[in-house]
Amino acid sequence: MNLKEEILKLKQELDVTVVGHFYQRDEVFELADITGDSLELAKKAKLSDSKYIVFCGVGFMGESVKVMDPDKIVLMPKVACCAMARMIDEGYFEENLKIINEAGISNDDILPITYINSSAAVKARVGEMGGMVCTSSNAYKIIQKGLESGKKIFFVPDRCLGQNFAKSLNLKSSVVGDGTSLNDADIICYNGFCSVHQLFTVEDIEFYREKYENILIAVHPECDPAVCDAADFVGSTSQLIEYIKNLPEEQKIAVGTEYNMVNRLREKNTYILSSTKPECPTMNETTLQDVYNTLKSIKDGNIIEECVINVSPDVSKWARVALERMFKV
Ligand code: 13P
Ligand code: SF4
Repeated sequence: MNLKEEILKLKQELDVTVVGHFYQRDEVFELADITGDSLELAKKAKLSDSKYIVFCGVGFMGESVKVMDPDKIVLMPKVACCAMARMIDEGYFEENLKIINEAGISNDDILPITYINSSAAVKARVGEMGGMVCTSSNAYKIIQKGLESGKKIFFVPDRCLGQNFAKSLNLKSSVVGDGTSLNDADIICYNGFCSVHQLFTVEDIEFYREKYENILIAVHPECDPAVCDAADFVGSTSQLIEYIKNLPEEQKIAVGTEYNMVNRLREKNTYILSSTKPECPTMNETTLQDVYNTLKSIKDGNIIEECVINVSPDVSKWARVALERMFKV
């Protein structure tokens, strides 16, 4: 039996659901029982009644499942941490609050919203302050809901997502530490970003438009605001797939998001909106061998300790509040 067949056999024998984000390597993605964007994965994994969740993605995704259902045993074949999520911890969160306070804006005037690409500890702090989580597919709605409080939004950690949704809601945004006025802004953004999505530029868009008449450009909202402004469509990974699948066969499109996902859409006249291969190093870390080792360790009753996702009860409590507020909206 080859590795893939061994994995399929173990999946049948065990009380396990394998979850895979669109950015996973093809061979891993194909084996997943549940696939989707961050919001869909969080929702679907929550509904799974398997004892074990084997999550092929990045750390914050596995953590979110554990937070929502502490009784599940969540394992990640590779505990790979999203580079953007690593840009913020509770310490940086507090430091930013201090800077905002020094500008004369008190904590009572702020509602924090965290992009799901953040640690459970950051989500917990946001939950404690009355805030909530959002993903790239529901940020518009969540920010709208947040604004009903009459407060300024403190959006962490992705400045691009914060700026892009501020624009689409006709709101003013600023970024802590970049010299823009925090007082004038409706949305104050933390200065984090995704290094993969920073690869796409307006020059790339111009290049494709010059080369192919009538080509469409679709990008993820983690791209720079200038790139999103110049694009024809901006959406989460699921929204991008849906948009591309519904295009006529002959329509050319250049897509600004991670390589594995775009490559799977190749038959639809699809181009990658960059001359640099936009791979997410952490998403790419999980291999077929890692998935096999994790499943085999469950079967042998000898689970690999470092693959187990644990979240302390006090962090879990407030992170769950922030996630549940999102699910309610
Ligand atoms: P989605 O929620 O759109 O799947 O995005 C997750 C992500 O990490 C994009 O870089
Ligand atoms: Fe994180 Fe960017 Fe990778 Fe998405 S693509 S998981 S935001 S580093």
